[in-house]
Amino acid sequence: MCGIIGYIGGRSSTPILLEGLQQLEYRGYDSAGIAVLSPGGLIGIRKSVGKLHNLVSMVESDPVDGTLGIGHTRWATHGEPSKVNAHPQVDCRGDLVVIHNGIVENYLELKRRLVANGHVFASQTDTEVLPHLIEEELLCGVDLAEATRRALTKIAGSHAVVVLSRHEPERIITARIGNAGGVVVGYGEGEMFIASDLPAILKHTRSMAFLENREMAAIERNGVTYYSLDGTRTQKSPQAVPYDPISAAKGGYRHYMLKEIMEQPRSVTDAIRGRVSFEPPSVLLEDLPFSETELRDLRKVTIVACGTSWHAGLVGKYMIEQLAHLPVEVDYASEFRYRHALIDESTLLVSITQSGETVDTLAAMELAKERHVKQITICNVIGSQATRLADGVIYLRAGPEIGVASTKAFTSQVVVLYLLGIYLGQARGTIAQSDLGNLVDDLAHLPDLIGTLLSKDNHYEALADQLYTAHDCLYLGRGINYPIALEGALKLKEISYIHAEGYPAGEMKHGPIALIDRDLPIIAIAPRDGVYDKMVSNIEQVKSRHGTVIALATEGDSNLDAKADHVIHIPQTTSSLLTPVLTIIPLQLLAYHMAIRRGCDVDQPRNLAKSVTVE
Ligand code: AGP
Repeated sequence: MCGIIGYIGGRSSTPILLEGLQQLEYRGYDSAGIAVLSPGGLIGIRKSVGKLHNLVSMVESDPVDGTLGIGHTRWATHGEPSKVNAHPQVDCRGDLVVIHNGIVENYLELKRRLVANGHVFASQTDTEVLPHLIEEELLCGVDLAEATRRALTKIAGSHAVVVLSRHEPERIITARIGNAGGVVVGYGEGEMFIASDLPAILKHTRSMAFLENREMAAIERNGVTYYSLDGTRTQKSPQAVPYDPISAAKGGYRHYMLKEIMEQPRSVTDAIRGRVSFEPPSVLLEDLPFSETELRDLRKVTIVACGTSWHAGLVGKYMIEQLAHLPVEVDYASEFRYRHALIDESTLLVSITQSGETVDTLAAMELAKERHVKQITICNVIGSQATRLADGVIYLRAGPEIGVASTKAFTSQVVVLYLLGIYLGQARGTIAQSDLGNLVDDLAHLPDLIGTLLSKDNHYEALADQLYTAHDCLYLGRGINYPIALEGALKLKEISYIHAEGYPAGEMKHGPIALIDRDLPIIAIAPRDGVYDKMVSNIEQVKSRHGTVIALATEGDSNLDAKADHVIHIPQTTSSLLTPVLTIIPLQLLAYHMAIRRGCDVDQPRNLAKSVTVE
């Protein structure tokens, strides 16, 4: 996902742009650039490949400055990472520049026509058709806003666009089409800001407005005019965003990922806060706009998500089916959007998305909206596109998750799904009042139990010392901990680049058992629950074939102490439904320490972006 920033005001724009891009670097980074309109009326452009510090060094040695500018960090979709392919992209005469997030799906036919009309292209990007299209429209004598609007009606796909012209130094034009990434408008005193998301401009303002789909804005030093893409004016008021930019800093930890893992007692507490009554025991989800009758009439829940959020959805399936007696299907959003999904008025669609900007998840939500299906989203980012698409939002309240590998968002997603399961069960009369007390009490102890696990980090680090040279790892789990096997494997592979697979332990004999040898570490998640005996049997099968077993076992389980090569102890919870919030903690830290030992960039792993806004 690319990062976008813009500034118009009375201050020097260059430091504001560079600092803002540094806040956005986690979104995607293989090149970066800025364009600044100098007092002399020329546009100065600086672009670099690789991490942002390369651009900062370039600007230090070859300064560019003015009070109007735009900037971009790029995660390449068309055209290799290179200076010429970095944004901003320019028109023929260097009079206007464009930065862009998304994919111009019909760029080839547009490019052919533009070249036939004499336009000269420099890059291999799809984005470059935009400045040339706008340039064509300007020749018709319209202003920059109208020329941009007309150009945008000619392109297919989802886009977030920012345009700057030397001929209109008093404004910046921006627009959003589809779900390629949001556009935030920041309001200051005699200055205005644009960003693809909040952290880039939070230092300067907390008064923000968010462009809707097919909406654009002409931003000037003292105000902004909003339009729909059909040209009609629209009204929009800024909202105050409660946000603490300091918490987005690393807080003394070596990496964002470690900070966010260690924050989980607090983030889980915040996910619960205000949503649970302990006496009498009950769960209240204030933002869900459905009546008890509507909840009773539901016949199915469909969960759509990607990556780690999809793993949380798999855990949620076990919770909602057990607590609310509702069938739950869990779909990869990228699959859901292309199959003939059987959803209707008796379905509740639940999307799970930390960023609220994942293009596949947003597309699945759009599909449900077109089918008039009730939907809620479980999301972490205020004002993100998912929160504006759903009928109701359950915020994670986990604070900014900067590390590309999702950790605290995952545990908060699972806790919110547990709350949702109880909430639905209450409405549908499927939970005995006597059980409600235990279900709610378990939540009260959860943050402390997480803290207990975190305090044993040196144990997981010592284990990482023995495992980090592995070429492959196999994670096994059953029941509600099968998704934890998947999530533990994803954590390891995405930050350490070790091939890792998660598997339902019962499937061992249908294939994976052939992989077992002395070089294959097997992480077996075996808390004392309804499938414990089966897990022990799987562990014995592995040991009989000389495999190395790292078992996650309930505290006091001496049986596994004798069978496994290494044992990680997990505190006992009353309800087995919440063990996933605990069993994932050691696996997050194990992956982190193994990746560090392999010299990997855990906060910005290769090829990955924090939020995937292009297919
Ligand atoms: C998880 O560690 C990954 N970063 C990735 O799988 C992520 O969970 C996925 O891209 C979904 O993102 P979202 O929750 O923001 O929609």
